[in-house]
Amino acid sequence: MIQRFDHRDSRDSRRILRFPAIQPCEGVSKDVLIASLINLGRSICDHKSKKFTTQRRNAREAIRVIGVLIIFFEEIRDAQSQSQSHAQSQSQSQSQSQSQSQSNMCDSVLLCLLEIHVAFQKIWYLLDDCSREGARLWILMKHNRVATEFRVLIRMLATALDVIPMDSIDAGEEVKEFVRLVAKQSQRRKFEGEFGDERACCDVVLILNQFENRVSPNLGDLKRVLDYLGIGSWSDCNWEIKFLNEEIELESSSDKDREREVSLLKSLAALMSYCRVVVFDEIDSSSSNQRIEILDNGEEFLRFVNPEDFKCPITLEIMTDPVTISTGQTYDRDSIHKWFKSGNLTCPKTGEKLMNTKSVPNSSLKSLICRYCFLNNGAQITKQSKCRSRDIVRTVSAGTPAAAESIRMLSEFLADKLANGCGSDRNKSAHEIRLLAKSNIFYRSTLVNANTVPYLLNLLCSLDPSTQDNAMAALLNLSKHPKSKSIVVENGGLVLILDVLREGLKVESKQNAAATLFYLSSVQDYRELIGETPGAIAALVDLIGESGTPRGKKNALATIFGLVLSPSNQGGWCEQGRFHC
Ligand SMILES: *[C@@H]1O[C@H](CO)[C@@H](O)[C@H](O)[C@H]1NC(C)=O
Ligand SMILES: *[C@@H]1O[C@H](CO)[C@@H](O)[C@H](O)[C@H]1NC(C)=O
Ligand SMILES: *[C@@H]1O[C@H](CO)[C@@H](O)[C@H](O)[C@H]1NC(C)=O
Ligand SMILES: *[C@@H]1O[C@H](CO)[C@@H](O)[C@H](O)[C@H]1NC(C)=O
Repeated sequence: MIQRFDHRDSRDSRRILRFPAIQPCEGVSKDVLIASLINLGRSICDHKSKKFTTQRRNAREAIRVIGVLIIFFEEIRDAQSQSQSHAQSQSQSQSQSQSQSQSNMCDSVLLCLLEIHVAFQKIWYLLDDCSREGARLWILMKHNRVATEFRVLIRMLATALDVIPMDSIDAGEEVKEFVRLVAKQSQRRKFEGEFGDERACCDVVLILNQFENRVSPNLGDLKRVLDYLGIGSWSDCNWEIKFLNEEIELESSSDKDREREVSLLKSLAALMSYCRVVVFDEIDSSSSNQRIEILDNGEEFLRFVNPEDFKCPITLEIMTDPVTISTGQTYDRDSIHKWFKSGNLTCPKTGEKLMNTKSVPNSSLKSLICRYCFLNNGAQITKQSKCRSRDIVRTVSAGTPAAAESIRMLSEFLADKLANGCGSDRNKSAHEIRLLAKSNIFYRSTLVNANTVPYLLNLLCSLDPSTQDNAMAALLNLSKHPKSKSIVVENGGLVLILDVLREGLKVESKQNAAATLFYLSSVQDYRELIGETPGAIAALVDLIGESGTPRGKKNALATIFGLVLSPSNQGGWCEQGRFHC
């Protein structure tokens, strides 16, 4: 029974630095366990090719220990399969071969192997976290805790190896000796935080302190940290921000520890946003290639059981109470009993005539099924709770003074680029504002206060479709902020937005223009102003007829209704002659 553990799911739902290892059940056959250990060990060793920017030494050492153990397990596997075929040829008539191969390893060996299996799973998770894209800064900040995890897990391995009764294991003396040696070394090894990590972590803390004290950090200092973490491009930086924001948005018990963690996450997200804006001039296409590669490598993880084996051959449903009959086939208790009751005295799967209808509960299978179901449902539950939490962090405050200051500084930086930069600087700044304005109310108000809105309005006349689009989208989400509405109107923005609505270079820009008008029309005076502007409603109606997303059309429609709600606009509505009232 070999399972393909769908690692993709586990990655999505597993929180970083949590290791939901499952305890394999004790009834598991040793062959299966050894095979699973070898596979798991190999996927751990696959991490050799991954990029570790922190915990390099600890990761290397852990992988080395696992590498030695794989050799050990392979020897056990080979010795076992030899003795099995040997036993079979010796005593073919007596159906003893099974019990013989089982007794090759005594229970204390099995218990040690079970322990090692759990440690392997956790080490895999740990290495996965340390090489996880987007999580580099976070893992750096947690470097002491991560080093402790390494130490605990390697000790756990070493302890299991220490008590394993080597005498009852079929493997070469040399390998055994090597394993003993590795176990001893691992017991002694410190697995402490690494010097480089320590220093980089201090650098980050210093930079956050500078922000807090309203000092712009030195570009060289920022670059040194980014270099250390291998964050070399705009999109690398963006992955970090995405990860940090996801961590912030996680629903979680709100105790003091979590509060402190969220504060740090917010400061780091703001720091990374600052870096993305200030350090990286060019937006590289954020290729997701690396991501996919990482996901595929994990596929081999934990080969253990195949869910198909959990299904009853009669009902094809997952069994709830598996029993094994005299032919060795396993069925769900209810369905096989029905089969017998109806007078069928054969094995449904093989067709053999049965001497008796005895059945024994297959408890090892039952416990595997239990675990399997638990794991699957568990994954679903965590996923749901993640979705529900989306809106929680959209708070009005920055979270920490350091975050507030870095966002203020980056907003001023962007306003300056918009005012004085060249065409591509302005385009990039508009794009940054578009991203920053998306999710966070505090970011929005800081950007508005830095006076970015008038400059964005200027960009609406741009002849470059992407610049116009970025500026329009940025304005759309900024205009959710109350103060920005008056700034737009006072700077003659209505006419400019209407121009985009009519003649925007992209359909999306037109739709965003319509949605912006919708926000503006929430103010009574502006609603009237828009309604009075010749051609405004006609342009909205035209937009509905154009190709585009249903959501964009809905926005246009909503805007029209918003305008119509204003009594003074109803006359204008009919004059347009579009609809007959
Ligand atoms: C008994 O076996 C026959 C054919 O072998 C099958 O058609 C019938 O459905 C079986 N009875 C039950 C209760 O499954
Ligand atoms: C339990 O079921 C599995 C899968 O069908 C089978 O391989 C195993 O031999 C069964 N165990 C017992 C004790 O019958
Ligand atoms: C403007 O930015 C977008 C990214 O939002 C980019 O695809 C486009 O090439 C840029 N255009 C110019 C003229 O720089
Ligand atoms: C505006 O923000 C929302 C989330 O608040 C986001 O879903 C949407 O894509 C943003 N609009 C644009 C045009 O970026």
